[in-house]
Amino acid sequence: MARHLSPCSSSSTTTTFSPSSFNHEAHLSRKFVVVPSRTYSSTWVSRIHTRINQRMHPQLKSSNGHPLNAAYMQDGLPGNPLAKEHFEPRMKQRPIPLSEPEKAESTLSITVVGASGDLAKKKIFPALFALFYEDCLPENFTVFGYARTKMTDEELRNMISRTLTCRIDKRENCDDKMDLFLKKCFYHSGQYNSEEHFAELDSKLKEKEAGKLPNRLFYLSIPPNIFVDVVRCASLRASSANGWTRVIVEKPFGRDSKSSGELTTCLKKYLTEEQIFRIDHYLGKELVENLSVLRFSNLVFEPLWSRNYIRNVQLIFSEDFGTEGRGGYFDNYGIIRDIMQNHLLQILALFAMETPVSLDAEDVRNEKVKVLRSMRPLQLEDVIVGQYKGHSKGGKSYPAYTDDPTVPKDSLTPTFAAAALFINNARWDGVPFLMKAGKALHTKRAEIRVQFRHVPGNLYKRNFGTDLDKATNELVLRVQPDEAIYLKINNKVPGLGMRLDRSELNLLYRARYPREIPDAYERLLLDAIEGERRLFIRSDELDAAWALFTPLLKELEEKKIVPELYPYGSRGPVGAHYLAAKYNVRWGDLSGEDS
Ligand code: BG6
Repeated sequence: MARHLSPCSSSSTTTTFSPSSFNHEAHLSRKFVVVPSRTYSSTWVSRIHTRINQRMHPQLKSSNGHPLNAAYMQDGLPGNPLAKEHFEPRMKQRPIPLSEPEKAESTLSITVVGASGDLAKKKIFPALFALFYEDCLPENFTVFGYARTKMTDEELRNMISRTLTCRIDKRENCDDKMDLFLKKCFYHSGQYNSEEHFAELDSKLKEKEAGKLPNRLFYLSIPPNIFVDVVRCASLRASSANGWTRVIVEKPFGRDSKSSGELTTCLKKYLTEEQIFRIDHYLGKELVENLSVLRFSNLVFEPLWSRNYIRNVQLIFSEDFGTEGRGGYFDNYGIIRDIMQNHLLQILALFAMETPVSLDAEDVRNEKVKVLRSMRPLQLEDVIVGQYKGHSKGGKSYPAYTDDPTVPKDSLTPTFAAAALFINNARWDGVPFLMKAGKALHTKRAEIRVQFRHVPGNLYKRNFGTDLDKATNELVLRVQPDEAIYLKINNKVPGLGMRLDRSELNLLYRARYPREIPDAYERLLLDAIEGERRLFIRSDELDAAWALFTPLLKELEEKKIVPELYPYGSRGPVGAHYLAAKYNVRWGDLSGEDS
């Protein structure tokens, strides 16, 4: 079973680093050297401009057109002449194209720490290749894999080429582009807590950087108990001397408020907040990114977006497979920490936030934090938990969660949870936000469902029969699969009579936009390279998210609440229906219309 160590502790017994050296005073004062790319955050319009520009001139530049290598001060530190107030609002600025010498002078090194892991192979390298294919990476870049496994550059290339058969592979010149990309990939084997090994990496990076201005991005695709070791070694031994250094970290960011706070404190011994890019890949999904566009650029939606018109909101995540192979990790976290506290809560915050002052990262994140801080901490009576049990169907048998050899037989870890959350502010007072997340269910989907109130004094009520709930409008944002936004409306069936029908105004992405949708990791990696923080989690957001869930998690664990069993491949525990019914809600995904 995965053990969660104190974040400041040294990672593993197999490595040689002595924990005592971790707190060495000399280390504490030395953070990664950083250069501001966007100490001011971008506007949406200029960002699009940047992206378009980048496809034509693939170099790094900030969204107002300044080259990222044009400044040499600490990111976000006092006295920085590039601080926000020294700049005109970005919309007013004209992008300044990079000159040829500027383009040639900087380099980008992306080091994937934990390169032999599943996430790196399945998501990160393919996303980097897709960015390269789309000309979104700068002219001078290299990708380094770092892990403990002994491997040559060639072996790394072989390993990653097997999973690069990504969405791009149907396009022209894919093979040529793949060869070019692989030539830019290198490998360094080392321990995660060895400064010496990171110093060796630094020498290799320098060799590739060939004296150009170095910008360095580290992607930590590793278990959380070694985050701090890696950050310490990388910051002391492999950060950029005069360019920027940024670090992308993957969840879990702790298991509760306390451990998350400790992790943040430890990371901040070596990094500034501006250098930490906490990734929640759901924020990189197309439909989640579109949520704000839908709300804030359509007059028809925003006026309806409140308790006056919305009866309830449902955030639903389901997977049709179990924890296969990940039981060790999962058992220490459970579905509430794995999906609800981050992916679904982030969507909720975007859904419910007030209009931000602008689309700048800080303005958006400020509004999200306000929503989270206005929420009432979860109560045990507003939550139900479940765990899948073995099941046989059509001659095939499906395992129980506790059949996983890495899971204890008596595990009480929930693989399913449903919860009712409330936002105590003027806009949302009394509106239930229902969340539901589960593994080993009958289907794979993620969606946001907005159920509107009944039409007052509805002239047609006798045409609907007794079930007026069925006649209310419902807006569905299907995040995956088969991205779509559809609105359920009532309509007259053509003919001489007056028969009403439920129909859908349906924006089905694959019909409207034949081009493939980029993977969430592509968008997020590109943002981190550009220094755009809007889709990354700020530390106060993280604190607020944990504050909501920590008391509940503690109570569930202390009281040893036994999860309700549900068969693998079913629609989940019955308790979820009772919970919804308590708030006069029916799960939209199980209504029979879309299930
Ligand atoms: C991860 C969870 O964050 O998201 C996994 O740890 C889950 O348990 C995954 O399977 C789902 O991501 P996606 O993009 O496949 O929906």
